[in-house]
Amino acid sequence: MANKSVWSDNRFWQRTAAWVTGFASILLIWLTFDTSAQISMGNDADLKNGVTKRVPGPTVINYKISYEMSTKRGHEVPYIGGNDGKGGSLFKEKEKFFGRDDYSEKEAGDLLHLGKLGSQAKNCMDCHTLMGNGAYYAPDLTKAWLDPAWGPEGSMQAVTGKSTKEEAMAEFLQHPELYPTHARMMPNLGITAQEAKGLVAFLKHLSSIDTNGFPRNFGKIQGALNGK
Ligand code: HEC
Repeated sequence: MANKSVWSDNRFWQRTAAWVTGFASILLIWLTFDTSAQISMGNDADLKNGVTKRVPGPTVINYKISYEMSTKRGHEVPYIGGNDGKGGSLFKEKEKFFGRDDYSEKEAGDLLHLGKLGSQAKNCMDCHTLMGNGAYYAPDLTKAWLDPAWGPEGSMQAVTGKSTKEEAMAEFLQHPELYPTHARMMPNLGITAQEAKGLVAFLKHLSSIDTNGFPRNFGKIQGALNGK
């Protein structure tokens, strides 16, 4: 066999295929474990011990959550209970949620569960987007809790006649038709007071998840809406 090119050798291609398949399988298995570790939910002890988790435990609803630009990471990052000034959360500053900042792991977990079921039953994703899934008819809800419109600097507390962010949001969710803010209106979905509380807890928890700056430019868009 004189001068047979390697490119026309069947065995060469068979071996290449086997190596590529083997390498890709190992890479995928490694990525699966890496991702599982990144997205597994933390717990109350993590928050109390200052352990940063990409997905904090349910009792994060007892804390104040802020969203600030990280020059190191080049996008906004959620800070839980204050910013330690070194790119991490302080886990100190509490924030009352419907009058309390001492929800137990079980109570907070039950509220989140109720909110999650509510978001599925009422199909928020039909119009909104949560963590990249859903529709773009209505505002992205991934960081809705951090939308300044609901804070002391925004108008929604006055509009709904409530004095806290969570009460204003819960009131809006129960009677959105009474508080139109955009040309597009959210319909009344028959959400009860308890469901609304769960949904707001769900949105607060959602906003505390480190999504690598997604949705992009949320801070700038919200700032622009507030004329900043
Ligand atoms: C039929 C479409 C539709 C469905 C379903 C829907 N919404 Fe909305 N929602 C809207 C529209 C449109 C707006 C913007 C209108 C406004 O602000 O007045 C809105 C606004 C909001 C806001 C204010 C957003 C912000 O950033 O300030 C929140 C919070 C919200 N919806 C939560 C929910 C939740 C939670 C669900 C599911 C239980 C849900 N919506 C289901 C259409 C919908």
